[in-house]
Amino acid sequence: MKEVILAKSAGFCFGVKRAVDTVYEQTGKKNVYTFGPIIHNEEVVKDLEKKGVFVINTMEELDDITEGTVIIRSHGVSSAVYEALQKKGVEIVDATCPFVLKIHNIVKQESANGKQIVIIGNEKHPEVEGIMGWSKTQVHVVDTAEKAQNLQLDPQREVCIVSQTTFNYNKFKELVEIISEKGYNIIIRNTICNATEERQTEAREIAKRVDAMIVVGGSSSSNTRKLYEICKNECKDTYYIQTLNDLDMTSLGKADCIGITAGASTPNNIIQEVYTNVRTEL
Ligand code: F3S
Repeated sequence: MKEVILAKSAGFCFGVKRAVDTVYEQTGKKNVYTFGPIIHNEEVVKDLEKKGVFVINTMEELDDITEGTVIIRSHGVSSAVYEALQKKGVEIVDATCPFVLKIHNIVKQESANGKQIVIIGNEKHPEVEGIMGWSKTQVHVVDTAEKAQNLQLDPQREVCIVSQTTFNYNKFKELVEIISEKGYNIIIRNTICNATEERQTEAREIAKRVDAMIVVGGSSSSNTRKLYEICKNECKDTYYIQTLNDLDMTSLGKADCIGITAGASTPNNIIQEVYTNVRTEL
């Protein structure tokens, strides 16, 4: 009999659950939009589309909207997006995760106090784009050791470092250390969300113990990709799947013990389907 371990922290975190629930509460109304897909999961986005909730991807697309409700997802948005929505007179439903709102406030206050802002994160990630949009001064975004080494700041002004909520904690520490060695006057706000740390730690522990590991999540979900990298480091037979359809059961045939985890935007029904099938089919 094979052993299958499902991570307790697999799937929606508090912020994503809250955002998804918020969107479902708005269904049934006319002209409901989300600013960007509510989560990085095609299944959920398609289901919402069937219920009349459409995705606006850019500020240009926003120009075509004249009425209705626009929901801001858990990643949050810049102050410029709030202003644009307010000007349009649409109803704004804000499902920004409170942990992301906290970063907006730190960046807003610290930049207003004259500090230089450094975000440890991926500058193309919507959460980071949103955070950048709350700074009163130029923002520096760092996600590699090379960028940290090349970072040139004004030595006369204090520096405030924050992090993208889903950034890997060990990498955050490494990059902060490189920047700290430059002798700037720095305050460090570790704004990595506990949900991410807990999910990553649990995934690492499980991956160490199993013969094969399955990571379930959308292909464009950065936190799922990070989970995959962590697991792959510990267990070479790690598989990244979006749904059960992507899972090649034959590749799991030799494994006696199989672990399963899932990214923050993976719905529970998809996780359960994978879990049930791996338990019953193998
Ligand atoms: Fe919020 Fe943390 Fe999730 S920041 S959206 S609870 S990963």
